[in-house]
Amino acid sequence: MESPSAPAHRGLVPRQGLLLTATLFTFWSLPTTAQLTIESVPPNAAEGKDVLLRVHNLPGNLGGYAWYKGEIVDSNHKIVSYVIDTQKITYGPAYSDREKIYPNGSLLFQNVTRKDTGYYILLAIDKNFQSRPVTGQLHVYPELPKPSITSNKSIPEEHKDPVVLTCEPQTQDTIYLWLINSQSLPASARLQLSKDNRTLTILPVTRNDTGPYECETQNPVSAGRSDPFTLNVVWGRDTPVWKGSGLTSFHGTNSNLSIYVQTNGPWIYTRMRNQKPQTSGQEPGFSPNITLKDTGYYTLQATNKILQQEQVTGQLRVYQPVGKPSIRASNATVTEHKDAVVLTCLTNDKGISIWWLFKNQSLLLTDRMKLSQGNSTLTIDPVRREDAGDYQCEVFNPVSCSKSEPLRLDV
Ligand SMILES: *[C@@H]1O[C@H](CO)[C@@H](O)[C@H](O)[C@H]1NC(C)=O
Ligand SMILES: *[C@@H]1O[C@H](CO)[C@@H](O)[C@H](O)[C@H]1NC(C)=O
Ligand SMILES: *[C@@H]1O[C@H](CO)[C@@H](O)[C@H](O)[C@H]1NC(C)=O
Ligand SMILES: *[C@@H]1O[C@H](CO)[C@@H](O)[C@H](O)[C@H]1NC(C)=O
Ligand SMILES: *[C@@H]1O[C@H](CO)[C@@H](O)[C@H](O)[C@H]1NC(C)=O
Ligand SMILES: *[C@@H]1O[C@H](CO)[C@@H](O)[C@H](O)[C@H]1NC(C)=O
Ligand SMILES: *[C@@H]1O[C@H](CO)[C@@H](O)[C@H](O)[C@H]1NC(C)=O
Ligand SMILES: *[C@@H]1O[C@H](CO)[C@@H](O)[C@H](O)[C@H]1NC(C)=O
Ligand SMILES: *[C@@H]1O[C@H](CO)[C@@H](O)[C@H](O)[C@H]1NC(C)=O
Ligand SMILES: *[C@@H]1O[C@H](CO)[C@@H](O)[C@H](O)[C@H]1NC(C)=O
Repeated sequence: MESPSAPAHRGLVPRQGLLLTATLFTFWSLPTTAQLTIESVPPNAAEGKDVLLRVHNLPGNLGGYAWYKGEIVDSNHKIVSYVIDTQKITYGPAYSDREKIYPNGSLLFQNVTRKDTGYYILLAIDKNFQSRPVTGQLHVYPELPKPSITSNKSIPEEHKDPVVLTCEPQTQDTIYLWLINSQSLPASARLQLSKDNRTLTILPVTRNDTGPYECETQNPVSAGRSDPFTLNVVWGRDTPVWKGSGLTSFHGTNSNLSIYVQTNGPWIYTRMRNQKPQTSGQEPGFSPNITLKDTGYYTLQATNKILQQEQVTGQLRVYQPVGKPSIRASNATVTEHKDAVVLTCLTNDKGISIWWLFKNQSLLLTDRMKLSQGNSTLTIDPVRREDAGDYQCEVFNPVSCSKSEPLRLDV
């Protein structure tokens, strides 16, 4: 018997690559016995593994087999043929050194590659040279590498930047899945998936979108999950937050004062006292230990060198409680209509306001009275009888106030 591929043609096999399974089974339907079929074992193969195209329900009276690659029987694509009686194996042009035919017709592929994916035809030839073609299919998929996430913006800014996260690498026949905080994606108009689900667009990003994100890849032979990826969202346009019990006041010897700025990102915070930088670093807070001698301005300045953006400055003014003032009079006993008097409020405190009181009431200025700038002196010129009485001055700052002892003016 000659090579079984020769009589296989007899004009019965269409050369135009039609699907043989569809057309030929009607031509060649076997009478009553079960149909000749080919099964891929396993159905989906990983690259580098072995796959068997297993032949089921071979008819009797067989002379041999021939295997072809593709959807049509074409001697240029013959892989191997086998003559049962002589056990003679003949290799064809499509043989690649990795295929092995068994006496039962099954074909083993060793170390499969993705190029092996496709259709294969087995021609079972009986002793009368009648051939029965049957098609089988091989699916070879790569073992997916561990995926990873990339972002097209390393430091996105809140409410401003769209961010595109991509699950790498791109591979064919792969299902991509995204997780946020280990949960599937919430429904949100700001989260958009590409058609193949490989990229996730966040539009625009907010501070709540830091993640972590994970992407999963799956194909029929493997699956992988990326390491968690955290988005470093910058936000810094908020006003500084003042925190602490005292804010601008001062209590005791140590006060819990702190300023912090609500920002996130590559900011450098400079802590200053009375405009002199003290320390700088990445802590967005500032809690100076304040004692009595530490009054002044405390400033927290945030600078973003990378984004070249926005300086957020928080300032804290610490006051000391004011001391008790006193009054000095140019002359406590004066003559009506003749004399003038100058009252001076004496205090060591700075940054204070001064008010004057007369007979326990806020002083009502008449046109004979004059206050100096800052209210520290009160001039009455000329003095009248109704000006006689108790004078007090009151000094205050935002955290405290104090009144002098009354000074009696006799007219
Ligand atoms: C054909 O032979 C091979 C190798 O011995 C075997 O693995 C396969 O299962 C056989 N096919 C059938 C249908 O028994
Ligand atoms: C499998 O095939 C690849 C190339 O396709 C080759 O590099 C590798 O050495 C082969 N492995 C075996 C076990 O033959
Ligand atoms: C990231 O991708 C989005 C959407 O394509 C685009 O609008 C944005 O400008 C990209 N950002 C950068 C830094 O390329
Ligand atoms: C993309 O993911 C959605 C669910 O998030 C899923 O319903 C859809 O089938 C996926 N599309 C593709 C092409 O995998
Ligand atoms: C972030 O989440 C918090 C709590 O769910 C919410 O109060 C806040 O408004 C969110 N911020 C933004 C910018 O979406
Ligand atoms: C100061 O801070 C300490 C420690 O945080 C806290 O226990 C204490 O209550 C704070 N004092 C005031 C007056 O807030
Ligand atoms: C603030 O004072 C407390 C108690 O005196 C001390 O433990 C702490 O180290 C001080 N912190 C700073 C920044 O000086
Ligand atoms: C105070 O006024 C009285 C009466 O006018 C006058 O005699 C006296 O010299 C004045 N004293 C001073 C220190 O100006
Ligand atoms: C001076 O006193 C008047 C009321 O008498 C007050 O309105 C004003 O604020 C005071 N000025 C200063 C600098 O304390
Ligand atoms: C002024 O007020 C003080 C206490 O507030 C009180 O003792 C005093 O009698 C008052 N004097 C006048 C003249 O009302």
